Amino acid sequence: MSGDPFARAEPLTLMAEPRAEGEPEMATREGVPARLADGGRRGTVAAANTAASALTHGRPSSATPPAVTLEGVRVSFGDHVAVRNVTLAIPARQVTALIGPSGCGKTTLLRAVNRLHDHTAGHVDGSIKLGDIDVYGPDTRPELIRRRIGMVFQRPNPFPAMSVFENVVSGLRFNGVHGRALLRDAAESALRHAALWDTVKDRLHQPAVRLSGGQQQRLCIARALAVEPDVLLMDEPCSALDPIATAKIEDLITRLAADVTIVLVTHNMFQAARVSDQAAVFLLGEDRVGELVESGATDELFNEPKNPRTRDYVAGRVG
Ligand SMILES: Nc1ncnc2c1ncn2[C@@H]1O[C@H](COP(=O)(O)OP(=O)(O)OP(=O)(O)O)[C@@H](O)[C@H]1O
Ligand SMILES: [Mg+2]
Repeated sequence: MSGDPFARAEPLTLMAEPRAEGEPEMATREGVPARLADGGRRGTVAAANTAASALTHGRPSSATPPAVTLEGVRVSFGDHVAVRNVTLAIPARQVTALIGPSGCGKTTLLRAVNRLHDHTAGHVDGSIKLGDIDVYGPDTRPELIRRRIGMVFQRPNPFPAMSVFENVVSGLRFNGVHGRALLRDAAESALRHAALWDTVKDRLHQPAVRLSGGQQQRLCIARALAVEPDVLLMDEPCSALDPIATAKIEDLITRLAADVTIVLVTHNMFQAARVSDQAAVFLLGEDRVGELVESGATDELFNEPKNPRTRDYVAGRVG
């Protein structure tokens, strides 16, 4: 196939939804206003394209307020407490790895950050803030939070009935963006940013499920990036991938962090060491409840852990 890869994209007209009355202006990065609310499309993704190889460029100084702040967070399912005592500042535009053995509440905590427990029996106590916004505030709309905090799951989950293109722009459409050129530009930008454009530019209108597993995961990352989130939550995004696909995702994570705050759950401590700036170790207490044991700069946490439980875990003696 040749020519305009978007040739079969539906003709569309409108742009973004206006910000609802009373809806809080969302956190911004370095004065860049919230983008979707005003129809802007040249924020995160395009900017990060130009910052592609930067490991440290654009990284915030230590004075930059955290992107996400958790204080005394506890998530329970009925009588069962899954995770407790989580007080953690997630630095903006860095990679924070959450590590710990199976069942210690990493996924549960991640889901609490963008209110996915609104649809489960999970109950969240404590405080979670996105910038200054109380994620569970009475006036905070969950869809607004999910627009600003994207998520990538363990197994690639493209919408099976949709094409590559429709997958990427689905979040934008959901948020009221319908301009054909806008969607086309956004799709290309997100796919380039997810290092997938060259692979799919001639098959944008084929079913997404025809892509390989690694390509599907990068498509899911592109889909999450298309709405230009401030934060990307990634729950073991490489666990279903081979080493080559894993290396591509790790490279992507490193580059994305120039512009997006990333929280990465991983079982792979080598992966955490390779890609994360900060790490937080979760372990099960004697009562089998997950808890945050220690957090800090990844190098220090792995090389000079302060807590003996962390030392045992990173040394492979427990977990
Ligand atoms: N929807 C749910 N309903 C009831 N209990 C749940 C639910 N989701 C998670 N849990 C429980 O919460 C605890 C933590 O589970 P979670 O999936 O967060 O662990 P995890 O650290 O992500 O584990 P893994 O590394 O295996 O993915 C477990 O005891 C699990 O059974
Ligand atoms: Mg999990």
